[in-house]
Amino acid sequence: MRTQHSQEYFQQAQKVLVGGVNSPVRSFKGVGGHPLVMKYGRGAKLYDYDNNSYTDYCLSWGALILGHAHPNVILAAKKTVEKGTSFGTTTREEIEIAQHITRCVPSMELVRFVNSGTEATMSAIRLARGFTGRDLLVKFDGCYHGHFDDLLTMAGSGVAQLKRSSSLGIPQNHTDNTISLPYNDAPTLEETLARHKDRVACVIIEPVAGNMGVIPASPEFLKRLRELTKQYGIVLIFDEVMTGFRTNPGGVQADYGITPDLTCLGKIIGAGFPVGAYGGREDIMQCLAPLGGVYQAGTFAGNPVVMRAGLAGLRLLNAAFYQRLNDRCAAFAEDINGYFQAQDIPAHIAHYQSMMSIRFRKKPVLNYADAQAAAGGERYTRLFQHLLNAGIYWPPADLEAFFVSGVHTRKDLGQLSSELKEFFKS
Ligand SMILES: Cc1ncc(COP(=O)(O)O)c(C=O)c1O
Repeated sequence: MRTQHSQEYFQQAQKVLVGGVNSPVRSFKGVGGHPLVMKYGRGAKLYDYDNNSYTDYCLSWGALILGHAHPNVILAAKKTVEKGTSFGTTTREEIEIAQHITRCVPSMELVRFVNSGTEATMSAIRLARGFTGRDLLVKFDGCYHGHFDDLLTMAGSGVAQLKRSSSLGIPQNHTDNTISLPYNDAPTLEETLARHKDRVACVIIEPVAGNMGVIPASPEFLKRLRELTKQYGIVLIFDEVMTGFRTNPGGVQADYGITPDLTCLGKIIGAGFPVGAYGGREDIMQCLAPLGGVYQAGTFAGNPVVMRAGLAGLRLLNAAFYQRLNDRCAAFAEDINGYFQAQDIPAHIAHYQSMMSIRFRKKPVLNYADAQAAAGGERYTRLFQHLLNAGIYWPPADLEAFFVSGVHTRKDLGQLSSELKEFFKS
């Protein structure tokens, strides 16, 4: 059997880890079979315990824009770890990465580092509530901002597989303060904010959604969102945990020319180490302890090894890097979509530069309802298995984005393109 060792390890994993995984999206629940147990990664490839190699398009859920084990990142981590692992004090590493991030994302005037994207969004929401003295939060159907209680309603990513895209164990009063609206729907947004304007603390959005497949917000919708939140004194939070440093150093806010009040980051800024960050307007950030009365803390926040490795990664992400990666992705998507059109195949690749997803219909997908209607279901399972057999590792869940890194070659993308064409032809 080609994956015998993986299967043996996974059986052991199931005895000690819940479902054999530490995050539900890693399970193969939606695609069948046993999850592979990976041994190591190099560049664009992952290797399992049976020494099979896979070209990786999951890339630790978007974190590895430089691929696996980039030498600069590894060296920075090694050199830093030799000095000690955690000090519980301010370090130069934190200062330098914060300086880099605030230069690249000017709306982040002050930054606070945390250990995950979830911590970043939940803390940003607490801060917005503390700053405004209001309770309500507005989010959008199908966006995923981590596993914070108040956000687990109509959520995308792995939560989408649960009833009402929510979770058990959340007291009703946590989501009583949450309003979830359809994505890209300006009239509904206008009406809702006008009705609740004095009670809404913040609106949080993935400005390009990546957790219901990839859906860029329309520029008009985001612009209207910015105007309305400014008019009503509502804090606008861009969750750029997935999009931050993905297509350019300034994120979606630079692409669209729209400035949020707060921004959440994660994934890429840690170069594969656990991290999150939030930051924004100085007057809002100054409400955080120790300067203000909103409390948020962390034993390992700003860990020097993470900060140094993250900065080593970010320093490689210059204009030439993005140009090459984005051009390569545009050519790939054009090739596949051209083929689907020519062959009259009801599918398309939706993409925002190097963030992509497959849709099982021709019509564009604008919101969560569309995304569910365009899901592949059983066809996604067959596609996933087809690619896995061809040595290609895609996200093991429909409606998750797949990612391309700077070390994926034209040849890698050519192979993915051929496999997709072959699958859809049959
Ligand atoms: C947009 C977005 N926000 C927040 C999160 C949560 O980040 P983490 O898994 O690091 O807690 C994710 C994770 O996928 C995400 O995609």
